[in-house]
Amino acid sequence: MSRVNSVSEFISIAYSDSTHVEPGVSSSVQSQSSHMVASGYGNPVPGISSQMVFVTSGEPGGGSALITGRATETKRRMTRVHRAFCFLVSRISTDSGPHPIMQFPLTRGVERGQMSTLSHADRLHETLEQWLENTKVGDPEKLHSDLPRRWERFDNVALLPLHSFTSDLWTEIISETWWAEVAEALKVERLFRKGEIKGERRESTAELLYGEGVDVERIEHGVRFVYRITECMFSQGNLNERARMGSINVEGEQILDLYAGIGYYTLPLLVGSKTTEVIATEWNPNAIRDLHKGLLRNGVENRCTVIEGDNRTHGKRLQGCFDRVILGLLPQPWEGLQTAVEALRPEGGILHVHGIAPVENPEYWESEVIDRLKAIVPDAKIRGVEGIRVKSYAPHWDHRVLDVQIES
Ligand SMILES: C[S@@+](CC[C@H](N)C(=O)[O-])C[C@H]1O[C@@H](n2cnc3c(N)ncnc32)[C@H](O)[C@@H]1O
Repeated sequence: MSRVNSVSEFISIAYSDSTHVEPGVSSSVQSQSSHMVASGYGNPVPGISSQMVFVTSGEPGGGSALITGRATETKRRMTRVHRAFCFLVSRISTDSGPHPIMQFPLTRGVERGQMSTLSHADRLHETLEQWLENTKVGDPEKLHSDLPRRWERFDNVALLPLHSFTSDLWTEIISETWWAEVAEALKVERLFRKGEIKGERRESTAELLYGEGVDVERIEHGVRFVYRITECMFSQGNLNERARMGSINVEGEQILDLYAGIGYYTLPLLVGSKTTEVIATEWNPNAIRDLHKGLLRNGVENRCTVIEGDNRTHGKRLQGCFDRVILGLLPQPWEGLQTAVEALRPEGGILHVHGIAPVENPEYWESEVIDRLKAIVPDAKIRGVEGIRVKSYAPHWDHRVLDVQIES
């Protein structure tokens, strides 16, 4: 195959792991392409690099391809790439029908100097390939297919999924040097592996695999969340709700965040929505420590009071003075409803009630929220204003939030 220098006259197919697209590669090719045929295939063959860009001639019947993302060409890898390529070809169709891409031109597309165009997933496969070539330990096919396919990157951290590198396959490989190589491949300085979220305090047990320091920072919509990743959880899925809390009109309001955690809603309310004051209650000392860090980091510590301990025991300190109360407790915040209702001003206010609802029938959960509130304040006017899906919680169950207006 002749090396393709300009992609503008070609059809391109960006193929990538859906969660890890390297923007610099696929998007630039896509934007220059005359016609986009297909994108977003899942990884068809275990061990295949998670990103390749195929550039094919626009002429029906003719074709050429550029595969990037692989730096070396072993026979085994060529076989794998070839299988992946055939998989893709079998699914490609254009206006003129199935488009055969007959030439199979595995090039050394990405040489050392071009390594920056590799995706992190590619680099991880490269690292493993290199390691295996040097050490000759383990079963390459199995190891490649057991590499993690997605991870979160933020700060200078990669947070690997639960069970990554835990199978026996890795026993001979895992070492400080291996972790250093993985960190280098993912372009981070620290590696963590996710743990289960455990106990009534919803604590995470992320484990430090490589690097130093366990405090991390995530920045979302201009809000800085600081937390000790080995002790506190951070739910990425609540992003939209955090963003909503950072954009609602709450000027001049007094707000109570009953289950504040590290400040998922408290911080956006203070930074984005510029509420006058938030009272945050929380009983987990680890979360309280990180909430204070977040308040300082965002420069909003003067507008927040953190009350430590079980929020059901604060009595008069929380009663009758809030315009809005957030109940962010899963699976259900029933135990906090009484406290929340009593915390509202005598004329009433808004509750943001979180909980787990059946995907097929969220109204069932919403009416339970309203019924439980009616049982607490039978004379009040209670109205569900808006129900929002926050994220999937489990098969058939969503995390939802219901905004409820209570008028006394
Ligand atoms: C699921 S986390 C919520 C964090 C954040 N508000 C959210 O929605 O993602 C629940 C938090 O409430 C705290 N919590 C649970 N029951 C509590 C109680 N009775 N008093 C104070 N804090 C409590 C837990 O420690 C935990 O940090």
